[in-house]
Amino acid sequence: MMEEKFVLKLIDKQQIPETEPERQYYFMDIAREYAKQIAGAKGSPLTFHVSTFGCQMNARDSEKLTGILETIGYVEEDSEKADFVLYNTCTVRENANNKVYGRLGYLSGLQKKNPFMMIGMCGCMMQEPAVVEKIQQSYRFVSLIFGTHNIYKFAELMATAMENTFGPQRKKGSSMTIDIWKDTDQIVEDLPVERKYSFKSGVNIMFGCNNFCSYCIVPYVRGRERSREPKEILREIERLVADGVVEVMLLGQNVNSYGTNLETPMSFAELLKEIENIEGLERIRFMTSHPKDLSDELIEVMKHSKKICKHLHLPLQSGSSRILGLMNRRYDKEHYLELVEKIRAAVPDIALTTDIIVGFPGESEEDFAETLDVVRKVRYDSAFTFIYSKRTGTPAATMQDQVPEDVVKERFDRLLKEVQEIAAEKAGALTGQTLPVLVEEQNGQDERLVTGRLSNNATVHLPGSPELIGKIVNVTLKECKGFYYLGELA
Ligand code: 5AD
Ligand code: SF4
Repeated sequence: MMEEKFVLKLIDKQQIPETEPERQYYFMDIAREYAKQIAGAKGSPLTFHVSTFGCQMNARDSEKLTGILETIGYVEEDSEKADFVLYNTCTVRENANNKVYGRLGYLSGLQKKNPFMMIGMCGCMMQEPAVVEKIQQSYRFVSLIFGTHNIYKFAELMATAMENTFGPQRKKGSSMTIDIWKDTDQIVEDLPVERKYSFKSGVNIMFGCNNFCSYCIVPYVRGRERSREPKEILREIERLVADGVVEVMLLGQNVNSYGTNLETPMSFAELLKEIENIEGLERIRFMTSHPKDLSDELIEVMKHSKKICKHLHLPLQSGSSRILGLMNRRYDKEHYLELVEKIRAAVPDIALTTDIIVGFPGESEEDFAETLDVVRKVRYDSAFTFIYSKRTGTPAATMQDQVPEDVVKERFDRLLKEVQEIAAEKAGALTGQTLPVLVEEQNGQDERLVTGRLSNNATVHLPGSPELIGKIVNVTLKECKGFYYLGELA
């Protein structure tokens, strides 16, 4: 078999740079050379596929991983039949983990047919020691495992994994390369990144989370909060704008606490003001906000901004002050409702969306009624509703009174119905108005249409050619069909 014959000729490494990102560029050259050898043996260019699970943070990480893979000579491919399949995993809820294990079985089948195939696993799930143990025991065909803290080292890890998988030292059946760090305070700038869209981009402004909501595994897998220097963020956005980007989404687990740990502290509101001044940038979005840290200063900036979009995602989690206390959310129902009132007074037409967890340990029918009460009072434009998932290692996992499954399911259904009814009533409020739309893509179903978004994030379909993609155009909203508008160029 070809697999037996092909042995990677290792490159003698001299003077590996000690500083980053230079060290990674050095390893990109090495990995590119290895990729060439493997492609030569295979007889065609190497392909890759990154499968992303979870949140916007992971989506942005996947763009960075893609940027490096393209730099070392891999070509992106749509399916998991690629020569390198990388799973960027999420672990916020248990079912996310189960999905990954299910798909690994399928990948192993593909690998049996392709001796040049490598499988990589990264992201939040890999920060859990039990997961890595399980993969080591039951999924030995995986070539590379790394976590969330050393993703900037991907080029180096990839070169090592290629050596371990195809080099002279490889061992039959176990050539797994594993590198997981517990935490880091390092932020490496200026590595390659490939954007999914040419006209909009996520921009990390901070990493990690210090909040330790009692149900949440994120602080354990993403580490302590650290903010990027404002000058680095501004430089990145300026470059993106020069490259055609008109909309940025500022990303962090809790953007409202941005800047507190910088040498020269700076608030999120101040950062937004600086970003607003970037010429050519048209729209600013951010995600996610924590109600305990959303300041009056920020509301004031949102009120006067011409670029901040009229959409705020403000996770509620529960409407019961008692449960919010147990969740360690550090706000109560009244504070949340006051905040919503203040925001709506400042930005009257803002769309509000939220996250809600049903069935947190100890949640009684009365507690749940408080959640429904907030939903009815706030009237969200949309809401993500989740069934509480027990995450080992979090304080909530050992709390008494876990709510029985059937009770949770019944509450979940009631909540979903309420949320959907309100969203349906609210949809269409802008019908008749002419508003700017950022056109994002050709419509999947009807190629005479293009699809874009309003400032408040609502979807609009309109007749138009693909040349409109990436442009902000004025659209008259003719009618609302459920959760999207049909419009016409004004
Ligand atoms: N169970 C259910 N939902 C959770 N979330 C976070 N942790 C859990 C959990 N253990 C939800 C929260 C958060 C969103 C991203 O995921 O609502 O805002
Ligand atoms: Fe998890 Fe809370 Fe941090 Fe959000 S703020 S990532 S819910 S711990």
